[in-house]
Amino acid sequence: MRQAGVNTVSLAIFSWGRIQPSEHEWDFDWLDCVIDKLGRGGIAVDLASATATAPMWLYESHPEVLPVESNGDIVNPGSRQSWRPTSPVFKRYALQLCSRLAERYRDNPYVTAWHINNEYGWNNRYDYSDDALKAFRIWCRQRYGSIDALNEAWGTAFWAQQVHSFEEVILPKHMGSDAMVNPSQQLDFERFGSDALKDFYKSERDTIERICPDKPCTTNFMVSTEQCSMDYADWSDEVDFVSNDHYFTAGRSHLDELLCSDALVDSLALGKPWYVMEHSTSAVQWKPLNSRKRAGELIRDAVAHVAMGADAINYFQWRQSSAGAEAFHSSMLPHAGADSKIFREVCELGEALKTLADAGLQGSVLEESHAAILFDADCEWATRCQTLPSTSLSHWHDVRTWYQAFLDSSSRADVVPLRADWTGYDTIVMPTMLLLSRQEADRIASFVHGGGRLVASYATGLADDRFHVALGGYPGLLRETLGVRGEEFNILGKLEGDPDDVGLSNGFTSRLWENVVTSVAQTARVLATYSGDAAVDWELDEVPAIVRNRYGAGSAYYIGCDLGRSDIAGFVDTELHDLVTAADNRVVHTRRRGAQADFDFYFNRSKDKATIHDVPGEAVFLYRADAVDSSAVYALDRSGVVVTASSR
Ligand code: GAL
Repeated sequence: MRQAGVNTVSLAIFSWGRIQPSEHEWDFDWLDCVIDKLGRGGIAVDLASATATAPMWLYESHPEVLPVESNGDIVNPGSRQSWRPTSPVFKRYALQLCSRLAERYRDNPYVTAWHINNEYGWNNRYDYSDDALKAFRIWCRQRYGSIDALNEAWGTAFWAQQVHSFEEVILPKHMGSDAMVNPSQQLDFERFGSDALKDFYKSERDTIERICPDKPCTTNFMVSTEQCSMDYADWSDEVDFVSNDHYFTAGRSHLDELLCSDALVDSLALGKPWYVMEHSTSAVQWKPLNSRKRAGELIRDAVAHVAMGADAINYFQWRQSSAGAEAFHSSMLPHAGADSKIFREVCELGEALKTLADAGLQGSVLEESHAAILFDADCEWATRCQTLPSTSLSHWHDVRTWYQAFLDSSSRADVVPLRADWTGYDTIVMPTMLLLSRQEADRIASFVHGGGRLVASYATGLADDRFHVALGGYPGLLRETLGVRGEEFNILGKLEGDPDDVGLSNGFTSRLWENVVTSVAQTARVLATYSGDAAVDWELDEVPAIVRNRYGAGSAYYIGCDLGRSDIAGFVDTELHDLVTAADNRVVHTRRRGAQADFDFYFNRSKDKATIHDVPGEAVFLYRADAVDSSAVYALDRSGVVVTASSR
């Protein structure tokens, strides 16, 4: 580890079975020894509360802690997170472990932080047990106060779902293969699941903090390509520093996707540096096909996380296991041993991170962009609902497409939670934000009225935060701000004999969803309509597709259909051109601002060589890149990185 420059280890995450081999037996000797060895070697320990997975004896004596699936099946132990977030029995054992660990290590100088649990919700995000039911009823009571309010919010008059007391409230369990869940109830169940896990986190944290008040606590979020499953905007206040696990998705968009996930994490970190708690040196082993990283990507990815605001770079796992489910997951020290490409690159990364730290990077923060793409967990949950006009929606997916389109246009946007304060941005983008509370809709309207610029995409602002459709024409909650009114949705798919895409008069193409806009306000200008044979076939010819409305001192764009990445980039180029820089779009640039210096980061997003000009400051770190002629010009190879520093 010293050879690789490792200075922090996250330890004992799944070690409960080793620490407490049976109910009345505790064994800390091995852990003392490991912590001591690391500490004396100059390596700090981020010590886990070790509660992520219980030992087998606990499952045997208390099978009632096991979660239940939607169809009533009990989850078997043997993997991870096989426990009910709402089980008082599990909580008692888990908090006992937290106390024992905190008591033992509170004064240990090598333990510098607490790693609470691990990836909350990875395997127990949805639990349909009796404990969950009990807790859900309490949650509903707290949210609604009266049963009438709940009936109203859930629209229970539909399909005779009225309940007369909170004791009659049920979980949205499997109801038969053709059954459809009440979307309002399902949305609340999603919220409840996130809250139940957050409460569990808080109990663990508070138990540890009571005994060991001086060491910071974190828990690793999972903002990544495929998931952003918890309402992390609601969690981030509860951690002393944000940490995130990010696993790459192989393919052309690998770097872009990493930057997009990190953009959200950086916003969650509330202006403070954060921690990459886990990522991989190369392939994982849990996908159907597990591609390795290409040469250069190990270091490029790590430095890209740093460029987006991370101050610590951890990997799962240190030594590649020889047995168990993760034996083929990459690591820092691979099966091949220290004489290996990966370990050499890990050592090189250690040097690189030291160079950046020595240059004073740590503590500096990511500079804000002018545009913010808004993200909201409620909207992500809502777009995955099975009773919408199309089941192909995902808010998070569309956030990523917009993010990438900005990069394609040589510009960059931040990704900001809806409930944050985004009023300082010039431009906000709302991709597929299906749900909005009335208050949020008002906040958006006054942002535009006061001079802001809004871009709202299809399926935005259709329903309120109870999942009630706002009446009077779509998109009910933003109709006035956007200056449009629609009456129907046109949904495309692979329908035999029907066109599966529709052209727009400006050359764009829609492939999924078109709002049938029937009128636009006098203050609005139609920028594109549907046109061409497919539009005629679908009776969309001349229907407004992209509209710009003047609203107060600001402007609001309405994009009434889904667009692909290149069309969105075309939209950014033409309509948001003030955000577009003259830089080569094959290179992405970020800046971290520190007290003493600013740090500029450049990454080659393409397979080709790219050249950057007028680079400010002195080179601090060049990777797969060279200075050309003068120091302000650099050539970057594939996966190339340039970092420069300018004193303030
Ligand atoms: C995470 C988990 C790690 C490891 C890793 C593999 O979900 O926290 O323990 O399993 O994934 O990619």
